[in-house]
Amino acid sequence: MIVGVPKEIKTAENRVALVPAGAESLVSDGHTVLVEQGGGLGSGFPDEAYRAAGATIAGSADEVWKRADLILKVKEPIEREWPLMRRKQVLFTYFHFAASEPLTRAVIASGAIAIAYETVQLATGELPLLTPMSEVAGRMAVQEGAKYLERVHGGSGILLGGVPGVLPAEVAVIGGGVVGTNAAKMAAGLGAHVTLLDVSLDRLRYLSDVLPANVDLVYSNRHNLLDAVRKADLVIGAVLLPGAKAPKLVTRADLKLMKPGSVLVDVAVDQGGCIETITPTTHDNPTYVVDGILHYAVANMPGGVPRTSTLALTNATFPYAKRLARHGWKAACQNDPSLFLGLNVIEGHVVYPGVAEAFALPLVDPHTLV
Ligand SMILES: NC(=O)c1ccc[n+]([C@@H]2O[C@H](COP(=O)([O-])OP(=O)(O)OC[C@H]3O[C@@H](n4cnc5c(N)ncnc54)[C@H](O)[C@@H]3O)[C@@H](O)[C@H]2O)c1
Repeated sequence: MIVGVPKEIKTAENRVALVPAGAESLVSDGHTVLVEQGGGLGSGFPDEAYRAAGATIAGSADEVWKRADLILKVKEPIEREWPLMRRKQVLFTYFHFAASEPLTRAVIASGAIAIAYETVQLATGELPLLTPMSEVAGRMAVQEGAKYLERVHGGSGILLGGVPGVLPAEVAVIGGGVVGTNAAKMAAGLGAHVTLLDVSLDRLRYLSDVLPANVDLVYSNRHNLLDAVRKADLVIGAVLLPGAKAPKLVTRADLKLMKPGSVLVDVAVDQGGCIETITPTTHDNPTYVVDGILHYAVANMPGGVPRTSTLALTNATFPYAKRLARHGWKAACQNDPSLFLGLNVIEGHVVYPGVAEAFALPLVDPHTLV
């Protein structure tokens, strides 16, 4: 099979869907790997590294899209790429169809098979191709929060870990899922005093076994949340209600209770945010101030550290990509119920309920097509 890896062309996207180690493994399976010139550069992988792994470097995106049976990408195809998608071509990438009707209709019209990273789901309910990006964002939230607490960046001038004789910063983490746990671990590791809030008692019980002693675990209700936010130098928003907009847990009025120069990092901004005053920002201009409180609201935080994010993402996606190449999409999906759930559009038919519902499109049972 010919496996194609186009260069990502969405603004500020520097990740790549296949690293040289993955190319080497696919080539040793007998596949041809076609990587667009410069495709890995943003993540620190030069063309030479892919060539050394046995891949072929293609001079243009057109060549990759024209020749490849299986396209590996990171972000959804953007408008310029829509005419390049082909009938029966397999596309394995993040799609987030429900966020874009034009994209959905373009993929339907192309006749391609769209397998979406974000809906691949394990029997436990875990979304294994979203988890690594949540890990990156959670860890990065603390790094960014620490930076914006510095006076020169407009913060209150507090060092997260304090020093002997000076108390450390107070960090409140709202939500103890993948993002929140990674954030709490990082903040605690730097010596901050952390309060983590969640509504799931089971989750809090589990976290009490794995997080260090400088993390207090608190049930999330309005009273406890306000207590934590009032004390906090850094608040990290990390809640998720699956399939819904994030609840607004910190209101504009609550900002008045906080210390001036404190920092809010709302990682949940991609689902609307859990802080009332949050609106999405970009890496070029990541923060703004409301009522004396710094707001950081970058919607694609992992894009800021593409090297780490590419490696983390491809560690998770590659085993699926390898099976898609080895067995073809039908057999690979038949053999793996998790990958089966990644099927969103098959040759013009919407097969994922959330996508059909979003745009009132007919839903076809994927079992009739696989
Ligand atoms: N900005 C970015 O770049 C970026 C990157 C990755 C993930 N995210 C987003 O971060 C958010 C969190 O992702 P995750 O992977 O950690 O999700 P997750 O499902 O692992 O965790 C969410 C947690 O929120 C908890 N929760 C729900 N309601 C709550 C409440 N009222 N108070 C406190 N906790 C509550 C849940 O019990 C759960 O433990 C999501 O919106 C995700 O899309 C953003």
